[in-house]
Amino acid sequence: MSPTPLRLGVAGLGTVGTGVLRIVRQKANLLAARSGRPIEIVAVSARTRDKDRGVPLDPYAWEDDPVRLATRDDVDVFVELMGGSDGPAKAATEAALAAGKDVVTANKAMLAIHGQALAAQAEAEGRVIRFEAAVAGGIPVIKALTEGLAGNEITRVMGVMNGTCNYILTRMESAGLPYEEVFEEANALGYLEADPQLDVGGIDAGHKLSLLASIAFGTQVAFDDVELEGIGDVTIEDIRRAADMGFRIKLLGVAQMTGRGLEQRMAPCLVPAQSPLGQLEGGTNMVVLEGDHVGQIVLRGAGAGEGPTASAVMGDVMDIARGVRLSTFGQPAAELAAAKPAKAAMPAPFYLRMKLLDKPGALAKIATILGQSGISIDRMRQYRHDDTTAPILIVTHTTPRAALDEALTAMEGLDVVAEAPVAIRIESV
Ligand code: NAP
Ligand code: HSE
Repeated sequence: MSPTPLRLGVAGLGTVGTGVLRIVRQKANLLAARSGRPIEIVAVSARTRDKDRGVPLDPYAWEDDPVRLATRDDVDVFVELMGGSDGPAKAATEAALAAGKDVVTANKAMLAIHGQALAAQAEAEGRVIRFEAAVAGGIPVIKALTEGLAGNEITRVMGVMNGTCNYILTRMESAGLPYEEVFEEANALGYLEADPQLDVGGIDAGHKLSLLASIAFGTQVAFDDVELEGIGDVTIEDIRRAADMGFRIKLLGVAQMTGRGLEQRMAPCLVPAQSPLGQLEGGTNMVVLEGDHVGQIVLRGAGAGEGPTASAVMGDVMDIARGVRLSTFGQPAAELAAAKPAKAAMPAPFYLRMKLLDKPGALAKIATILGQSGISIDRMRQYRHDDTTAPILIVTHTTPRAALDEALTAMEGLDVVAEAPVAIRIESV
């Protein structure tokens, strides 16, 4: 008897959806050989039926309504590639689960907001939701966390998870261009999301971090607790000064469980220039996972684009075809703890850039204020200056952010500070 095919309904025929159609067409024999059964697309849906998508759609049934697609009798797996946290993506996902379909999605926004409820629904229906493509595109990081590292207590998850921001930051450095100019370049190249704030505001990367944190720490997805800061205030001057001190600025996500609760941060940070994260160029992503037994592992690869993202979608489809059935976030939804957010980040060294009036005793006043807040200076550099002001860089020893804020407030009243200081966390990687 020939094996039963796994029948897919694909909603969303944009970058990722057409990539999935191509793989299923071009690799039919390979997919069948590896999963033990044919993988077939039976029906598709998108907004506009007559758009030329560069792939033939004749072999598939067409549905205008993704909810109808998701509930068709001949669909086993609903593949959601439309995007958006709510609207048709959520409605069709819920309908698919209710109709007894498994779901594969690349939609980090939907899962970051509704992941807990969808996971609970999937389990109640005896279905699975898989979302490898939602985090770091082609990098199999969900699989690494839920399967390969399942025997570890995860101590920290870190990463550069938004390729557009990494492109902007590395291009600012290599071309010596200001943020605004590189933002326009990225826009012209089509790198930015329809709402650019999702990228440069750190929201997209924050969605991804919250999903990884849930799996890593057995907690409910808590996107609202991610401390978010985008890259819009990163200046070329800070990029250059940081490089002088041996660092690079990255939009870095960090999640760790501390004695004070779950810390989730997505913000510009300094990392050592020679570290794997410091060396990461252009639109590439990198995720660093740390476990108590495995130590540190580093995964690097394309975080976006047709091929890499469709590759991750197909990895999930293949697992379902093979009968692999895992809980959405690595353990049953009802057992995921409500994450208590850490009120303050773990202490760290900080980079401080300031401009002081070039007067006797100016530096002494700064050093005194830092000392009064219990902050010790690790390194300091004064640059050649114009007639009246001197640029100063300070790298502190590890200090709580609250102590630094106290010192920065005290500096506001000083007669020698020409410009408000810039403070950026230095992450030990
Ligand atoms: P896209 O190119 O904008 O494609 C979206 C598709 O969804 C289009 O085909 C669109 O139809 C269809 N669509 C939108 N609203 C619809 C509706 N109401 N009913 C039916 N179809 C609808 O998006 P994408 O880049 O492929 O991204 C898809 C998903 O993958 C998103 O969740 C995204 O965050 C995620 N993702 C993307 C990447 C990437 O590199 N692109 C990487 C990782 C994750 P029309 O074509 O007719 O307009
Ligand atoms: N806008 C995202 C990025 C797409 O730049 O990484 C992939 O999620």
